[in-house]
Amino acid sequence: MSNRQHDGSMIAVCNLVKNYGKVLAVDDICFSVPKGICFGLLGPNGAGKTTTIEMMEGILKPTQGTVYYQGQPIGPHFQEKVGIQFQNTAIQDFLTVRDTLELFADLYPQQKSIEEVIELCSLADIIDRDTRKLSGGQRQRMLLALAIINDPEILFLDEPTTGLDPQARRNFWTLINNIKQEGKTIILTTHYMDEAEYLCDDIAIMDHGKIIARGEPKELLGDHFKGIKIQVPDRGREAILKLIKESKVENGKIEFFTKNIEASIKTLLENKIDLTGMQVIAPNLEDLFLLLTGTSLRN
Ligand SMILES: Nc1ncnc2c1ncn2[C@@H]1O[C@H](COP(=O)(O)OP(=O)(O)O)[C@@H](O)[C@H]1O
Ligand SMILES: [Mg+2]
Repeated sequence: MSNRQHDGSMIAVCNLVKNYGKVLAVDDICFSVPKGICFGLLGPNGAGKTTTIEMMEGILKPTQGTVYYQGQPIGPHFQEKVGIQFQNTAIQDFLTVRDTLELFADLYPQQKSIEEVIELCSLADIIDRDTRKLSGGQRQRMLLALAIINDPEILFLDEPTTGLDPQARRNFWTLINNIKQEGKTIILTTHYMDEAEYLCDDIAIMDHGKIIARGEPKELLGDHFKGIKIQVPDRGREAILKLIKESKVENGKIEFFTKNIEASIKTLLENKIDLTGMQVIAPNLEDLFLLLTGTSLRN
């Protein structure tokens, strides 16, 4: 691809490869990300997400390929445009959250005001606390604040909610949406498919260093699944399998996809199938990953 094809995109990667010795961590991937969206790199542990995002950040040299910022290969000034929330950041001891924000702000020529960052990242109630005494969720909020203190155009978040409890994850999602509202471009990695569905406008699913699916979450699901999933406890499967040809048995349940829930349920009821315990489930990205790879994300 020539540079021209990346015109209009905020950041793009082209033929990106990374080898660690014999390990092919990233295997020739290409994608581009328009301005102002939240782009998600999804995949299980070891898929190559961190390696990819670190090459995009300009902190890891690709074995092959190029990262483009606004249509041009990234250069020395790229770092000024980005904010990075690392999976682990060393924070100096004996400082409060406010001290830490001020320390980091001083490193950059361009800054957001500390008060604005406190507001955006909901830090008001912990601003005077010793940074060693923060909960996991509070620490992530502080690291997010540090990542946006230079008012970056692109914000990189590598598994920002891993290890947080559900409540803290939800809170964090709200903050990310606030930052998106400001028109920032966000690149996020996650192995939580619900997180990607909630936050991302566009996703790339990675497995073994390759991109195996790419698009808007809703579109991807629409392309791969024929409607909604219905599950009925298996109390004698013959009748249902006869009525609905494309049904199959999974974990003691009979399941099938339908675009017309009413008609399907009517057919089952007319044939005196006991529907006690029936579930109607919209397929999610977790199901998509299973469909594409044959393995569950969590393995
Ligand atoms: N510094 C490194 N040296 C050798 N192998 C690495 C290194 N970093 C990552 N890898 C390997 O590259 C692959 C992709 O890793 P990574 O990008 O961290 O995946 P993810 O972030 O999706 O979990 C894995 O097989 C991992 O073991
Ligand atoms: Mg990783």
